[in-house]
Amino acid sequence: MQTELDLKQAYAAARPASQAAFQRAQRVLAGGAGHDLRFARPMPLYIARAKGSRKWDLDGHEYIDFLMGNGALLLGHAAPEVVAAIQEALAHGTHFGNDHLPQIEWAEQIRRLMPSAERIRFVNSGTEATHLALRVARACTGRTRILRFAGHFHGWHDGVVHGFQPPFEADGSTGVPAGVRTESILIADGDLNRVEHALATDDDIAGILIEPSGGSWGRQPLDPQFLHGLREITARRNRLLIFDEVITGFRYSPGGAQELYGVRPDLTCLAKIVAGGMPGGALAGRADLMAAFELTGVTHHDRFERVAHQGTFNAAPLSVAAGLATLRRIASGEPTRQADSAAAHLRERWEEVLERHGVAGYVYGVSSTFHVYFETDPRRLDAASTRSDLYTVDPARLKGMPGELVATYQRALRSFGADNMSCTGGVLSAAHTAEDIDRSTEIFEATVLHLRDAGVVKPMPD
Ligand SMILES: Cc1ncc(COP(=O)(O)O)c(C=O)c1O
Repeated sequence: MQTELDLKQAYAAARPASQAAFQRAQRVLAGGAGHDLRFARPMPLYIARAKGSRKWDLDGHEYIDFLMGNGALLLGHAAPEVVAAIQEALAHGTHFGNDHLPQIEWAEQIRRLMPSAERIRFVNSGTEATHLALRVARACTGRTRILRFAGHFHGWHDGVVHGFQPPFEADGSTGVPAGVRTESILIADGDLNRVEHALATDDDIAGILIEPSGGSWGRQPLDPQFLHGLREITARRNRLLIFDEVITGFRYSPGGAQELYGVRPDLTCLAKIVAGGMPGGALAGRADLMAAFELTGVTHHDRFERVAHQGTFNAAPLSVAAGLATLRRIASGEPTRQADSAAAHLRERWEEVLERHGVAGYVYGVSSTFHVYFETDPRRLDAASTRSDLYTVDPARLKGMPGELVATYQRALRSFGADNMSCTGGVLSAAHTAEDIDRSTEIFEATVLHLRDAGVVKPMPD
């Protein structure tokens, strides 16, 4: 039996180049990594190249990839048409600082897929998209506060950095002025009465910002009826409904979660897939709201009565090229069907692994996503007689798996040959094959057995 210490040591020993990179990184990178979630012990993963569903680290180890560029890749790594489009654009220059025709084609393509995107303003990331959405919502309603849901993630700017990880009421980061917190009202999702009450008792709420998948790309499952209810309440009370489709956009369906669930928001935040694996994002929405950007030539209006927005790299040519090539292929519906079917297959096979080994937990997810939840609370285990008794939608539970369990899971998964997206979940792409599912099921099984032997997951009660 391989102990956790054995695994950790073997993992590090097999990755000398990665160890050396980590030594260098700690001397020059703040926090030792480029993103909070990339940091890992004994060292982060250092990737040298990626293709299709796979990627390879500095030491030559191959991984089946369920991170897929933080969810930005639905066609897989280095999809030939995306690479070709970038190469073609590259030959014409990387950045003009001027507008260009492909930007308009990109916007037209987005609108074809997502009819609520009547007008579009390009930005550089999901964080920028939600930041701009809040500004437009406030500008258009004359109201200040935003209703948000505990556990939903909207990027790292001051206005949204708190509230996505438990304890949800606590600060999300140091360095954020205390007053900013009060500009968001944070409530639990799933209960329309609570939403109705919040809007009825606070006239200063401009709109509602939500991940339509449920918090953290569906790690907290959400009944789509809740979205329909939000649409009805916000329309009746004249507040805005803002979907953060940074992950779900063009993944949940070619028209995003709004198409899958049949709910049309007022504003939509986009990033990741929209830019085909290059940096990019967009705020899209109702023409009358997006008119807040319009320059009229009247000095007072243009200086004081509109939403200001700049950005050196908005709709930069290489991002436009990658985004357009990606969305054109997604428009056929085929990539979504392939990725969804691969993910459904994976969820089924991984669930069987938990069942076969009697481990307390379950696998769930929508579209091309999956999440694994391990139950470790003895009280809940005592009360459970079947696997479905473990099921929970409580965000504090779903996001409250012990840190040691999550770190061990991630390390074991990598050491056996797969990488996930965050915590214990991942996303698939059209490049994932049946063979990837077979192989990843073996990897998941080895991981689960390791966790069981390490004592960090619990058996299902008899
Ligand atoms: C739902 C959601 N919104 C916003 C963001 C922030 O996007 P970015 O990392 O591009 O700033 C993310 C990032 O993962 C996200 O998942």
